[in-house]
Amino acid sequence: MENLPLDGRDCVDLARLLRQVDFFASLTIGEIEQMLPHLLLYRARVGEIIVRQGEIGDAFFLMKTGQVAVRIKRNWFTRAETVAHLGPGKFFGEMALLTNEPRTATVVCTEECHVYVLRSCDFQTVLRKSPAFAEAVRNMARLRRLLSGLPR
Ligand code: CMP
Repeated sequence: MENLPLDGRDCVDLARLLRQVDFFASLTIGEIEQMLPHLLLYRARVGEIIVRQGEIGDAFFLMKTGQVAVRIKRNWFTRAETVAHLGPGKFFGEMALLTNEPRTATVVCTEECHVYVLRSCDFQTVLRKSPAFAEAVRNMARLRRLLSGLPR
């Protein structure tokens, strides 16, 4: 993935994006402001793998534009199965960071995307500072586990 410089305009875009997504309503403007300096912006091209199933998780991703597919390979003998498509305002990569287990799925870019990236340590800080947001992320991870047919 290509690292892009983040400027003031991106910060305004991000604040707007987060406000449009119900999920992030649990974050206050102050909490969003604290997160901004820690965010990186990356561009992924079609076919690029952003997260690989089985790898150690080191970052959380929030989509600004584009589309990704979430694919799970359940064993050596079956093909990877697409369990979800995610677009602007959606996030991924939270599961491995919450449980310290390997990535549960491969996330591949299907439409050129811009994604905000929060490194694991900064993600943990946001979770610590905002219990409401932490709860919302945990609930979403639980739901995704269920939808993906992963053991609890
Ligand atoms: P993680 O396990 O860290 O890396 C792969 C990511 O794919 C995972 O976190 C979730 O963010 C995402 N993911 C897994 N299953 C689903 C699903 N059913 N719907 C949406 N996203 C998912």
